[in-house]
Amino acid sequence: MGMKKQRIIALTSLFFLGLFATFRGCFSAANQPQLTQKKKGHPTANNRFGSSAVLAVQGNVYPLGYYYVNLKIGSPPKIYDLDIDTGSDLTWVQCDAPCSGCTKPRDRLYKPNNNVVTCVDPVCSAMHSPGSPGCKTPNEQCDYEVTYADDGSSLGVLVKDYFPIQFTNGSNISPRLAFGCGYNQKYSGSHSPPSTAGVLGLGNGKASILSQLRNVGLTRNVLGHCLSGKGGGYLFFGDDLVPSSGIVWAPFSSNSLGKHYSSGPAELVFGGKSTGVKGLIMIFDSGSSYTYFNSQAYQATVNLIKKDLNGKLKDATEDKSLPICWKGTKPFKSVGDVKTHFKPLVLSFTNAKNIQLQLAPEAYLIVTKNGNACLGILNGKEVGLGNLNIIGDISMQDKMVIYDNEKQLIGWAPANCDRLPKS
Ligand SMILES: *[C@@H]1O[C@H](CO)[C@@H](O)[C@H](O)[C@H]1NC(C)=O
Repeated sequence: MGMKKQRIIALTSLFFLGLFATFRGCFSAANQPQLTQKKKGHPTANNRFGSSAVLAVQGNVYPLGYYYVNLKIGSPPKIYDLDIDTGSDLTWVQCDAPCSGCTKPRDRLYKPNNNVVTCVDPVCSAMHSPGSPGCKTPNEQCDYEVTYADDGSSLGVLVKDYFPIQFTNGSNISPRLAFGCGYNQKYSGSHSPPSTAGVLGLGNGKASILSQLRNVGLTRNVLGHCLSGKGGGYLFFGDDLVPSSGIVWAPFSSNSLGKHYSSGPAELVFGGKSTGVKGLIMIFDSGSSYTYFNSQAYQATVNLIKKDLNGKLKDATEDKSLPICWKGTKPFKSVGDVKTHFKPLVLSFTNAKNIQLQLAPEAYLIVTKNGNACLGILNGKEVGLGNLNIIGDISMQDKMVIYDNEKQLIGWAPANCDRLPKS
C-alpha cells in the first residue's frame, strides 16, 4: 500500500488498564469492556439475548450509490453517518488524530481521548485474524488498515468508546465497543470520495460491532436489512424482527471466501429458462451499489437481454452512467416505464430445493437522470473481482435480507422497507 503508519497517542499500558478498571466499577455488567470478558462459559440461557436494535437507513442506489445509518458514538455522543457494509468487518470513523483524507469538517470528526486499544486486547487479534497484528510489544497501540474492492482504504488505530443503543425492549444501553479511528483515507480515483463519516462493517468476522454486542450478551449475532427502492429503509441487530415464516434460507457457502457472506452454488435462470451458467458463489454485499457477475454469467445475461429486447429499445451509448444503457422514444421516469421489456433473472441455489433469489427488472435496472435505463449488473472481471459474484444493493432492494451468524444462514423475502418495524 505504501501508506505511512502514524502514531497517535503515547500511552502506557498500566495507565490504560487502570483507566478501564475505574470505568468497570461504574457501569453495569453489560457495559464491561471486552478486554475483561472471558469468551467461553457464559452461564446463559437463550433469553440472555432477549432484544434487538433497529436503525433507520438512508440513501439509495442511484444517484447516491450507498445506504447509510446515523450512529451515535461517544459520551456525550456525536452522530456519524456510516456506510453499511456487509462485505467488511471493521467499523471505522474519520478521526482527528490529525487526519489526512478526511472529508468531514474537523468538528464532525471523532476525537480520540486516551482510549486506544492495545495489542494485548483480544479484539486486536480478532481484528487481524487470521493474520497477526504485527505488534512488536504487547502494549503498543493496535493499528489497522482496510482496503476495499474499489481500492479505497482506511488506515488508523483501534479505539474503544460508548455506543448508546436503544433496544426494542425499551432499554437504553451504552456498551463500550472497539472500532477504528481512521486518520488516513485513500479513495479510488474512479469515483468521488464518499460523503459519509466512515463505514459500519457488518461482515462475519469477530471484530465487528455486532460480534462485540454478542460477546457482551446484548444481542444474537444476527443482522438484517431492508433497503427500499424509493431510498431509505432499516437495519437491525438481533433476531427479534426475523419473521417466523416466509423467509427463504440458504446456508453460508463452505467454499470459504474469507470474511464474506456468501452462498451457492447457484444457477442463472433468465425468463424462466436455464442459461447453462452454473456453479456461481454469490457474495451478499450491502457495500456494493451494483451487482457483479463473473464474465461468463455477465456475458450470458447481456446476450440474453439484448436478444430478448430485439431492438425494441435503442442503445444509449451517450449515457455514461453505466456501461450499458437504453433509451426509449421519450425519457423514462422510473424502472416502471421500461420493465415490461425486461424478463426476470433468477439465481437458483442448487444445494437445496426451491431456494431462489428473484431479480425482477427493478433489481437490475436503474433509470438515470437523462431518462435512460441502464443495466445495474456489471462485469466483475473488469474491476478485478476475478471469478467472484456480488449481490449488491440494487438486487437487495425491497427485500428483507438476514445474515444469521448463529445458524450460518442467509435469508431473504420480499418486503416493504418504507416503514420502520414497530418496536
Ligand atoms: C432489554 O434488552 C437488553 C439487550 O438484550 C438487555 O440487556 C436488557 O436487560 C433488556 N431489558 C429488559 C428490561 O428486559
